[in-house]
Amino acid sequence: MAFLAIITAPDPRLKLKARPVGAVDDSVRRLMDDMLETMYRAIGIGLAAPQVGVARRVIVLDVAREGEPPQPLKLANPEILWRSGEVVTSNEGCLSLPEQYAEVVRPQAIRLRYLDYQNELREMEAEGVLATCLQHEIDHLNGVLFVDHISPLKRGMILRKLAKVKRSRATVAA
Ligand code: NI
Repeated sequence: MAFLAIITAPDPRLKLKARPVGAVDDSVRRLMDDMLETMYRAIGIGLAAPQVGVARRVIVLDVAREGEPPQPLKLANPEILWRSGEVVTSNEGCLSLPEQYAEVVRPQAIRLRYLDYQNELREMEAEGVLATCLQHEIDHLNGVLFVDHISPLKRGMILRKLAKVKRSRATVAA
């Protein structure tokens, strides 16, 4: 297994629409495993392939709380089939927008179809934190970040802050 580098915003690779995988084969499974390890190491609860520079429709998640057994999920080609009318507001963050958080409103529950680790087509229903996290990760596959759901003013503030962090890091690296 390998740790992958996580891309941080602003970066054009985070704005691309990712392509579906043909099938979950050994190479996709390896990507899923590497993404999950990378996510755990970064102490995240979700990660999408575009965040590690791979423009394919693959996401991994684990929303288990501290002290609970791990609940890793590895999904390819996830497709939302239904969204609840009821919405919920969550304080969201993202491994690609380090240390930035904002309140985002999303449907409280969803139903989705996806390919699992064995390349089986499955459906699942999710609600609460899992539904929020799934929607956040599926957004990444469409080039959408959580800041795209908030006011342009707040979005601008966050992205400018991140651009500044990037510039200062580049200076240090030089
Ligand atoms: Ni994210």
